[in-house]
Amino acid sequence: MRLKNKVAIVTGGARGIGKAIAILFAKEGAKVVIIARTATEINNTVSEIRQNGGEVIGIVGDVSKWEDIENLVSNTISNFGTIDILVNNAGVLKPIGPFIDTNIEEWVRNFQINFLGTVLCCKAILPVMIEKKHGKIINLSGGGSTSPRVNFTAYGVAKTAIVRFTETLAEELKNFNIQINAIAPGAVNTKMLTEVLETGEAAGKKELEDAKIQAEKGGISPELTAELALFLASDKSNNLTGRLISAVWDDWENFDKNINEITNSSLYTLRRIDGKNFIEVKK
Ligand SMILES: NC(=O)c1ccc[n+]([C@@H]2O[C@H](COP(=O)([O-])OP(=O)(O)OC[C@H]3O[C@@H](n4cnc5c(N)ncnc54)[C@H](O)[C@@H]3O)[C@@H](O)[C@H]2O)c1
Repeated sequence: MRLKNKVAIVTGGARGIGKAIAILFAKEGAKVVIIARTATEINNTVSEIRQNGGEVIGIVGDVSKWEDIENLVSNTISNFGTIDILVNNAGVLKPIGPFIDTNIEEWVRNFQINFLGTVLCCKAILPVMIEKKHGKIINLSGGGSTSPRVNFTAYGVAKTAIVRFTETLAEELKNFNIQINAIAPGAVNTKMLTEVLETGEAAGKKELEDAKIQAEKGGISPELTAELALFLASDKSNNLTGRLISAVWDDWENFDKNINEITNSSLYTLRRIDGKNFIEVKK
């Protein structure tokens, strides 16, 4: 059991990728706290985990509301005594469509949930980790964080902000033995895919075509992201911090063999390609 007696919060852990993470963490011995918005989905996931012998509680709440996060922290502490792991997984995809046509309130709401929800959870939970000089934070980034994702400005920008926030906090937290990393899960068939299909042409021709193919072929498994999150939450990844890791494309199963080399480089970070390097690469 790789997370025996660890206490882990998984935001948005009631369905999709977050659910896969919550199930795996509980299986590996963690005491899990799920926060999400839909009570019925939380109840189903909590029952499933308990039926398999896992320890879990579910809380209805909104990650973009400070009072809900304060409630999350106090409930976790009163039930399980501490917090070792935070997975910032809660997220929304919409608005979808050209920026000029989007509803600005929906755009702002996206940023509040995806980015500021991640910030609020870190702000509320870090004092617990700093005091015990131990902690692991895993942020869900993804689509739009490494290149422009046309017609998904709010989502792409929020997910990019998460990466730089991750990199910056990683530096600030090095002396406290707290590691913080981000994950790009790949294209997973969840409600987010359904939303693209429902939007139709406004999502963009290519995006819609890709979504149809993904729906047909099955997409990337959410369990792959759960395995990467487990690696990042476990002692196997100690000292690895400030990275954006692709569940699908990066060789993270072997990262433990060269963590120092990775952390002393710009590997798996967001950096500007300057003209000089570009010319040298072309030569
Ligand atoms: N599905 C993909 O292909 C994909 C790709 C890259 C990144 N991601 C990221 O993975 C994460 C999980 O996505 P998913 O595909 O499982 O989506 P999903 O829509 O199936 O699940 C999202 C979860 O977040 C919760 N949530 C949403 N807003 C919330 C809020 N304000 N407060 C609390 N909980 C909230 C929902 O209740 C749900 O449980 C997201 O951060 C998403 O951006 C997904």
